[in-house]
Amino acid sequence: MWIANTKPQLRNYLSSGSEKIILVPTMGALHPGHASLIALAREHAGKDGIVIVSIFVNPIQFDRSSDLEKYPRPLAEDLEICEKYGADGVFAPEANEVYFPDRSITVTEKSLSENLCGATRPGHFDGVCTVVLKLFNLTKCTAAVFGEKDFQQLAIIRRMVRDLDLDVEIIPHPTIREPDGLAMSSRNTRLTPEHRADAVRIFKALSAARQFTSAFDIFAAAKSHIEASDHAKIDYLSLVDANTLTPAPDLSAPTILACAVFYGDVRLIDHISIPAH
Ligand code: PAJ
Repeated sequence: MWIANTKPQLRNYLSSGSEKIILVPTMGALHPGHASLIALAREHAGKDGIVIVSIFVNPIQFDRSSDLEKYPRPLAEDLEICEKYGADGVFAPEANEVYFPDRSITVTEKSLSENLCGATRPGHFDGVCTVVLKLFNLTKCTAAVFGEKDFQQLAIIRRMVRDLDLDVEIIPHPTIREPDGLAMSSRNTRLTPEHRADAVRIFKALSAARQFTSAFDIFAAAKSHIEASDHAKIDYLSLVDANTLTPAPDLSAPTILACAVFYGDVRLIDHISIPAH
């Protein structure tokens, strides 16, 4: 498995000219969720295609500097996981390799990013779209794998591909969870044992709320479950239309119940789909 830290190194490794290049963009601190994305990329690439994992903690998508500083960076372990799950190469650049100091172009999505994480993390999705477009261009990938865990991100990336006519197939992967239901996240390692125990409530709350049939009851059930822990601070809890990601006051169309919850300074997200009633 090759490792490229710079754009010229990456270009060099890509000169073999394979027809299928599948990218798995990550920020590292890889867990079994990421590993299954890499395995899926391997499956799609077959033996002749190339699987590239990018590991880059993208500074321009962080809205809180403490989150960026504390983001875990266990590169040696990450490389082992990449190799084990079938990556052919890893692109792991530093920020000054990716961005020019006087960069002045940003990709902005103006509809799907209005609510949810887009509303509470200003500029976040501009940072995501900008880096993902750069990674698509740098790796010349023909397909890329994204997790459904970040469903708003996935929707926005699909919109970027559509609106900018990018020739990249987007392959989704379902959310991988801990045995107790907590969605796996690189940030879970930063939870205190007490907060980790309370964070189980997120998925339990979403699952319990799903059984109700009115938007009001669904919202109320989820809120009270999560807030049963004193440590939880809800950043947002929203019912949104699954296609437009705008608030869904009734359940006439497929809906998503999504939340972001702080435990201390660790912010976790999760969602569940609610069928149309
Ligand atoms: P990161 O949070 O490292 O996630 C990388 C990819 O792994 C994303 O597509 C994310 O949805 C997926 N993923 C994370 N946890 C998952 C889980 N429990 N189950 C399934 N998939 C999971 O998302 C980012 O990085 C960045 O925003 C990035 C796209 C790399 C741009 O910087």
